[in-house]
Amino acid sequence: MNVLVIHGPNLHLLGRRRPEIYGDATLARLNAGIKKRAAGLGLRVRIFQSNSEGRIIDLLTANAAWADALVINPAAYTHYSYAIRDAIEALDLPAVEVHLSDISRREPFRRVSVIEPVCLAQFKGEGPRSYFKALDYCLSIRAREK
Ligand code: DQA
Repeated sequence: MNVLVIHGPNLHLLGRRRPEIYGDATLARLNAGIKKRAAGLGLRVRIFQSNSEGRIIDLLTANAAWADALVINPAAYTHYSYAIRDAIEALDLPAVEVHLSDISRREPFRRVSVIEPVCLAQFKGEGPRSYFKALDYCLSIRAREK
C-alpha cells in the first residue's frame, strides 16, 4: 500500500517553532519516525513538506495515481483552505488528517477544520504519534476496500 504524507506550512520549522506546543523533534526526526513506522506496517511512503497552497495541490495531483491513501497535516491551511479541501475531494483520495497539537483546545480559529469533512479520520494532539496512528489507520482503509 502506498501512502502519501504531506506536511503543510511552517512544519519545516519543527524543533524550534513553539516547542511547548509542537515538541522538540525536527521535521527530519519526525520523517524518520514516519518511515520507520511505515516500514513496520509494510507501507510505502512518499513524504513532502510545502509552505504553499498551490504546491500542495500540485503534489496531491501528481501523486494521486500512485497513492492508495493520503496522510496530511495541512497546518494553518486546515482552517481556511477550501482549495486543498476541494483537491482532496476531487482526486477521491482516502485521506487522514493529522495534527501534532490538539486543535480543538486551542484558539477559536484553530477549532475549525475545513479539511475534516473530506477526511475519513482525524488524529490530533499526540505529537508524532498522531502521524503514527494515521499510518495504522491507513491499513484499515485498505482492509475496507478489499
Ligand atoms: C498544526 C495546527 C495548526 O493550527 C497550525 O497552524 C500548524 C500545525 C498541528 O500540527 O498541530 O501549523 O496543524
